[in-house]
Amino acid sequence: MPFTIAIDGPAAAGKGTIARALAERFGFAHLDTGMIYRAVGAIGGDPIEAARRLSATDLLRPDLRSATAGQAASRVAAIPEVRAALIVFQRRFARTGAGAVLDGRDIGTVICPEAEVKLYVTADDRTRAARRAAELGADYEQTLAELRERDARDAARDVAPMRPAEDAVVLDTTLLSIEEATSQAAALVAQRL
Ligand code: C5P
Repeated sequence: MPFTIAIDGPAAAGKGTIARALAERFGFAHLDTGMIYRAVGAIGGDPIEAARRLSATDLLRPDLRSATAGQAASRVAAIPEVRAALIVFQRRFARTGAGAVLDGRDIGTVICPEAEVKLYVTADDRTRAARRAAELGADYEQTLAELRERDARDAARDVAPMRPAEDAVVLDTTLLSIEEATSQAAALVAQRL
């Protein structure tokens, strides 16, 4: 099995940035699994059918990063059959190349429970909302309300709820710069390589 890095945590905590930096630093492939759920939500119609038929080109749909797409993703992500249909693709991705970094909500708990490194990246919700509002050029209060709604739904669902794996290292990025957060994550990976 290639070396696997599982990164989970709530929206806008820095998972994606850290995942991309680690993939580049160690020459690993990277999969942002949130994009898969965003694509399923954006396709519309029956989400179970959309998940079963999902193809790589669906991940190129415009507007997948919007707040609306995030809310739609979180709704379809609570449907057990949708999650089941997406497991094989994610696990196959984890087995490609010299190593892989996957980021999402259930990577360390469900998709890759054997991952060599498990990180749970989190931050205070006001900090996360400020970062996301700046990134999207969106209203701060509305972004904060949406993040809270989405995190609550992701943590409360019955199937694969968002939570740290028992053996995950928690990285709180509230007071860290991007450089500090990525260098702490990279040090952890380097220890286990
Ligand atoms: O990470 P991102 O904000 O793009 O994820 C969008 C939504 O997709 C999340 O709010 C969550 O509901 C869902 N998701 C998930 N499991 C993952 C990745 C994302 O349920 N592994």
